[in-house]
Amino acid sequence: MKVVLGVAGGIAAYKAASLLRLFTEAGHDLTVVPTASALHFVGEATWSALSGKPVHTDVWSDITDVPHVRIGQQADLVIVAPATADLLARAASGQADDLLTNVLLTARCPIVMAPAMHTEMWEHPATQANVATLSERGVHIVPPASGRLTGKDTGPGRLPEPEELYAVCARLLEHPRAVAATAPVTEVIATRGPLRGRHVVVSAGGTREPLDPVRFLGNRSSGKQGYAVAAAAAARGARVTLVTTADLQLPTGVEAVRVETAQQLRAAMLEHFDSADVIVMAAAVADFRPADYVDTKIKKGMAPGDDSAPEIRLVRNPDILAELVRHRGDAAGPVIVGFAAETGDAKASVLEHGRAKLERKGCDVLVVNEVGSDKTFGKDENTVHLLLQGSSRVEDVGPADKRVIADAIWDLVETLV
Ligand code: CTP
Repeated sequence: MKVVLGVAGGIAAYKAASLLRLFTEAGHDLTVVPTASALHFVGEATWSALSGKPVHTDVWSDITDVPHVRIGQQADLVIVAPATADLLARAASGQADDLLTNVLLTARCPIVMAPAMHTEMWEHPATQANVATLSERGVHIVPPASGRLTGKDTGPGRLPEPEELYAVCARLLEHPRAVAATAPVTEVIATRGPLRGRHVVVSAGGTREPLDPVRFLGNRSSGKQGYAVAAAAAARGARVTLVTTADLQLPTGVEAVRVETAQQLRAAMLEHFDSADVIVMAAAVADFRPADYVDTKIKKGMAPGDDSAPEIRLVRNPDILAELVRHRGDAAGPVIVGFAAETGDAKASVLEHGRAKLERKGCDVLVVNEVGSDKTFGKDENTVHLLLQGSSRVEDVGPADKRVIADAIWDLVETLV
């Protein structure tokens, strides 16, 4: 497909280079149209080398080819990332003073804009009015994420991660009319897409079970897969609550509930159970916790020759996934998705362990992933088998980016909600 990547002059222009790669790696024909100020941040040579095409900012180059009309007319999708306050203003008022604004006027395909700027500029009524105008005209606005900005300040204004922007675009390329473009901008993502109106609750990360004020028992889960599941659900229009022990950048449109222990995670999941349409237990919940918490640091013996070590007694944590399934009982309740971290052993393969776990836990879908010291944990890629309750079907996905895995999970779960 022909994709145009417009880049306006903001510090986040460097992230557009990663976005470009996601498109080209997926086989799309990509044309970059930076503004003149974007070239202050990332130069023409980078864009040309990465896209394999000459790059222009004005309408006077290759004039016989009429690029100011042709590029927009032929595009299957245009994304502007980052879209600065200035670019939004020029686009909203229909100006055509450089190549990018010409492309925006001549394109009849879906247009996505990802604003990124300082919080004050984003919140200024002029910017908000321009965004509302563009949104009313059918431009898909991906609202900025909250987080660290260029300086020491934080707030809404960050460009969402390239994977997130790519997922929004990939979906539009697949279903150009999947989303209507009339929603108020602050709810742009949450009011569109196949999961719109649905509340999705996702748990992510490994629990930490404290031993004393400085030590805990933990595990190697990074939370990346759970965050990708949450981001994919938000991009499909769901209202997403992410119950998390991890501290990764929060995907756009996702509300976080921070927890640490299995018991806190359990309480948060139960609290959101009644309003949930889908629950995804991607968290790696510790099966055991120290029986006793000591509220002062456990010291080692100081006497000469004393090399004793304390014994740590463990007690079982609740199995939250199984409890959520029991809680639902026979009543119509949320679709419940579990994850299984399996290594395979002498008794059974990864898949056999997965099937037994699906049976034992009673959830609707089980995402089985093979784990090991060099697999899955902390990585950006994953390989999974998707198992459906009551079916012998197995869907193998990957190795692929965790976001691709997340989309495969939602493709399956969407058929159940
Ligand atoms: N899980 C849970 N509560 C626990 C342990 C796990 O809710 N105390 C959930 C996980 O979030 C995941 C699923 O159960 O969705 C499977 O987790 P996994 O660690 O693979 O399985 P366990 O139940 O711990 O089984 P085992 O360690 O014996 O393989």
